[in-house]
Amino acid sequence: MAAGAPLTNLQTRDIEAVLHPYTPLHRLKQTGTLVIERGEGVYVYDTHGKPYIEGMSGLWCAGLGFGDAEMIDAATEQLRTLPYYHLFGAKGTEPAIELAEKLKEIAPVPISKVFFTSSGSEANDTQVKLAWYMNNALGRPNKKKIISRIKAYHGVTIMSASLTGLPYNHMGFDLPVDRVLHTDCPHHYRFGRDGESEAEFVARLVASLRDLIEREGPDTIAAMIAEPVMGAGGVIVPPAGYYPAIQEVLDEHDIFLIDDEVINGFGRTGNWWGCQTLSMTPKTISAAKQLTAAYAPLGAVMVPEDVYQAYVDHSEKIGTFGHGFTYGGHPLGCALGVKAIEIYQKRDILSHVRSLIPTFEARMRRIGEHPLVGEARFCGLVGGAELVADKATRRPFDAKRGVGAMTAKLLEGHGAILRAIGDTIAICPPMVITEAELNELFDRFERALDDAESWVGREALRAA
Ligand SMILES: Cc1ncc(COP(=O)(O)O)c(C=O)c1O
Repeated sequence: MAAGAPLTNLQTRDIEAVLHPYTPLHRLKQTGTLVIERGEGVYVYDTHGKPYIEGMSGLWCAGLGFGDAEMIDAATEQLRTLPYYHLFGAKGTEPAIELAEKLKEIAPVPISKVFFTSSGSEANDTQVKLAWYMNNALGRPNKKKIISRIKAYHGVTIMSASLTGLPYNHMGFDLPVDRVLHTDCPHHYRFGRDGESEAEFVARLVASLRDLIEREGPDTIAAMIAEPVMGAGGVIVPPAGYYPAIQEVLDEHDIFLIDDEVINGFGRTGNWWGCQTLSMTPKTISAAKQLTAAYAPLGAVMVPEDVYQAYVDHSEKIGTFGHGFTYGGHPLGCALGVKAIEIYQKRDILSHVRSLIPTFEARMRRIGEHPLVGEARFCGLVGGAELVADKATRRPFDAKRGVGAMTAKLLEGHGAILRAIGDTIAICPPMVITEAELNELFDRFERALDDAESWVGREALRAA
């Protein structure tokens, strides 16, 4: 919406009726909302018919873009055959069976069973409940705490928001709950000390994790959860060697690693799974988002045989396994999961992503040279550009001035949607984007950065 333009009827109705997630509610009447009407390929269109390149795949999820005919056909067929059924009480559906088999086939580590949820938050919530259930089954009732990281993002339900390590997800919500510990964020640019090499930084983080575990007591800690590349914390790619080094400490203390692949999974980092790109060896895995390319909501928790056996034992003791969601394993979501994976395989999306990575990296490096950008970080087809007041000292802008939010707004003016995470601009285009479209997206990104630079100058926002 152009600044000062009157709200359209739909915008007014939107503001009157919808409680918008992740939105400064106090400014909504001034900013209005951007109402999206339709999508095609990598473009979405607003209610005025204006096209935008959707450079974030929605929320890191629409990997096949919009309007894929095969996905639409698969959805239609499933809705005709069986629009709903559940998996409670030993019921089954063919789409859920087929998707679980597919996930076992492509999993990065041996997986025995797949538990379906409706979202990534529910998947991570389930991970915690299952870790507790498992340790109760194994006669370790005190081994319950979960380690997460500062700036992690694992969702917004009470437990998954507690795992999340971002202030806005805790403040005002009485979170985090206890049993959750946050260790350091592996972001060298922001948290490395003066003159500290990446290897020294990793060694310090490993020592700090060891201290935390020893302080709390290893027999009180069940698991650590980690996204291979941290997404909503600002696209943070840990230094080489980070995961193998922390895993050594976890293994020493019998603490298992939960891999949150909700953003990383299904090709985003240039491999099927982010853990393969970042050298992580997880015990259990959470997936969602590109699992169905966002054509329907679905999440999944994948567990190996020994973990599953503990659930079986406990179920025998208690009488049942008392966990499940009405829509977990919804046949529509599962049919679309099966179809999305089939498309990733038969169209060889992985090779396509890999063919785009050199251009993505080159354009991200160029973004990194912009006077407004302190660090441009990237992995596969996901990146983040951190805007700073002073490139040399890495001094951030005053967060209240909203330089990131303004840049995202300027991007919309240029017909591109990217996401401001504080003052980091995230980019995560649909994996099916063509090279020409990708270059066009970066051209628009650069033009918006130039506009933002002028605005920063006009408003004298660099003043310390
Ligand atoms: C890494 C990660 N885990 C979990 C979630 C939560 O997923 P959902 O929003 O589907 O609940 C997200 C959402 O962005 C995520 O990025």
